[in-house]
Amino acid sequence: MTDITAVKTKYAAEIEAASDLKSLDDIRVAALGKKGEVSMMMRGLGKMSVDEKKVMGPALNGLKNDIAALVETRKSALELDAMNAALASETMDMSLPIDVSMGTLHPVQQVMEEMAVIFSDMGFSVAEGPDIEDDFHNFTALNFPPGHPARDMHDTFFMVADEGEEQKVLRTHTSPVQIRTMINQKPPIRIIAPGRTYRCDSDQTHTPMFHQVEGLVIEEGTHMGHLKGVLMDFVSAFFETDVDVQFRPHHFPFTEPSAEMDVRYERDGAAIKIGQGDKWMEILGCGMVHPNVLRACGIDPEVYQGFAFGMGVDRLAMLKYGMPDLRDMFAADTRWLGHYGFSPLLQASLATGLS
Ligand code: PHE
Repeated sequence: MTDITAVKTKYAAEIEAASDLKSLDDIRVAALGKKGEVSMMMRGLGKMSVDEKKVMGPALNGLKNDIAALVETRKSALELDAMNAALASETMDMSLPIDVSMGTLHPVQQVMEEMAVIFSDMGFSVAEGPDIEDDFHNFTALNFPPGHPARDMHDTFFMVADEGEEQKVLRTHTSPVQIRTMINQKPPIRIIAPGRTYRCDSDQTHTPMFHQVEGLVIEEGTHMGHLKGVLMDFVSAFFETDVDVQFRPHHFPFTEPSAEMDVRYERDGAAIKIGQGDKWMEILGCGMVHPNVLRACGIDPEVYQGFAFGMGVDRLAMLKYGMPDLRDMFAADTRWLGHYGFSPLLQASLATGLS
């Protein structure tokens, strides 16, 4: 019995003295690991008489549990210390006067501004719509009939509806802004709609909130050639180099015909170089606006045609500025923002360079 008390006192002192998680775990292994001191003592039970076992069994079990509990308590304390140390060393004084040179534009904001500059040079204006949408604007008017399987692909976040109210959704794309614009404006229409979009998806290349830029042109005599021309000019301006593109047939309910546009790229070590190379990467969806969509907005498809396109801003920002993980974009870590952010005083412009 004295053995047990001595062993407990010894480990209790060691555990208390452990100054980091690694040394604490070494102590745990020395006591309770497979070949640990307490484990070896328990193995000795087999050679004891029944009477001895009755006493030593519970005592050794108690020793094991006591040491395990002491390790756990010390572990929580050490983890708390580590957290407090990180909080203290990474703390920011919010009461300091603002140093303008420290504030930066988020790369997503920068890229949306670059896009606005490029498209406004082609005669587009910027339109906006709400993040919380109704079914009509997000789906039905865009030619997704109720129950259509294409709705499932959107991993929609549904809002809780008030009694008797229609259930709203977080918009799954910026395409509802097309609908709002066509209902409120007469053609000719040339808009881009940058903004937040939401889908229930999260991994290295998907975040539940992300950004898209939508484009819409409605004008008599518009055809696929205009769509291709606009998008080809856009990517070369955006990546600030000659970019080879290809259009692949695709399907969207709201465009017909529909296509995805790929850009050429090559790998240079870990970096990706857009423009030339032997590989293709998809960067946007597009197509001629479906007659049903025009009709839903009160526009006569016999008179007016148009095209639309939509692209993910975050991924384009990652490709242009070489960020490895999408999730970092929205972690609000000031070190990341300091590294990847842009000066708010330098406006993107075609004359002086975009970035
Ligand atoms: N809204 C589509 C999406 O989110 C993109 C798109 C927009 C495709 C406009 C074609 C035309 O996937």
